Amino acid sequence: MTPARAHSAMPQTAMNTSPSEFNHPAQASAQVQTPPAKMRASNVSFHYGTFRALYDVTLEFPANKVTALIGPSGCGKSTFLRSLNRINETIRGARIEGEITLDGEDVLKMDVTGLRRRVGMVFQRPNPFPKSIFENVAYGVRVNGLASRSELPDIVEKSLRRAALWDEVRDKLHESAHALSGGQQQRLCIARGLAVEPEVLLLDEPCSALDPIATAKIEDLLVAIKDQCTIVIVTHNMQQAARVADNTGFFLLGRLIEHDRTDVIFKNPSKKETEDYITGRFG
Ligand SMILES: Nc1ncnc2c1ncn2[C@@H]1O[C@H](COP(=O)(O)OP(=O)(O)OP(=O)(O)O)[C@@H](O)[C@H]1O
Ligand SMILES: [Mg+2]
Repeated sequence: MTPARAHSAMPQTAMNTSPSEFNHPAQASAQVQTPPAKMRASNVSFHYGTFRALYDVTLEFPANKVTALIGPSGCGKSTFLRSLNRINETIRGARIEGEITLDGEDVLKMDVTGLRRRVGMVFQRPNPFPKSIFENVAYGVRVNGLASRSELPDIVEKSLRRAALWDEVRDKLHESAHALSGGQQQRLCIARGLAVEPEVLLLDEPCSALDPIATAKIEDLLVAIKDQCTIVIVTHNMQQAARVADNTGFFLLGRLIEHDRTDVIFKNPSKKETEDYITGRFG
């Protein structure tokens, strides 16, 4: 959990450079290669009935990077995160505008089950199913028919190892998930999410109910799994954003105020609102 480790992987080019600039051959050859965006939100607005919760948010998530979303309570972080895999579209009166793409494909037009398999989610409170540890992890693989029955034990072990939980549960895989501690339950939910091999993992304050040791384990695993998926994490803990995130977006009152490399956001933000927030002047 050292801040330096997370930052060492940061892209060298500015996040706000437009894709068309990268496409210009002369410029592209002179620039450090930046991975293509795995997901991109363009001018996303969100309404709960007559209340507008998001205003024209444009933000991209580079592949195999961790992006943190920060900002005061009620600024729209969860609304935005939940838009990315359309979890909030079933809310009565909810309406989204703009475009969200996954590998360039419009997620609003995708089959929602397929989308959520590719873009998984971990919530603030661990929510294991009332089943065994094994069945929790195997669940998504089973319901999506992603593997045969004989392959499940290997998939469960691999997922629990990736979520840094295997050593603690290997001897009680068939016991109830509800018998685990809060931190173990949250890592179990991450293992359940990882078992279907999502391309993107969304986490909404996954450590807010956990102690520092459990939090450190989850932060370490986020950094460890980003070579296999793209991660977006909402957090109120700015030290956490600084430790795990390559890039950070700051939200205020439904607007994305600033988005840049995490070190820039925390050490040299360009907007006064960002500086006020990270220095604790409000929020
Ligand atoms: N289901 C809903 N119906 C109506 N309004 C909602 C609903 N969910 C959220 N809102 C409103 O949308 C705004 C953004 O809420 P959201 O949960 O996205 O904020 P947040 O940044 O995640 O806050 P927090 O840090 O407290 O979790 C708030 O004003 C909230 O009251
Ligand atoms: Mg929230």
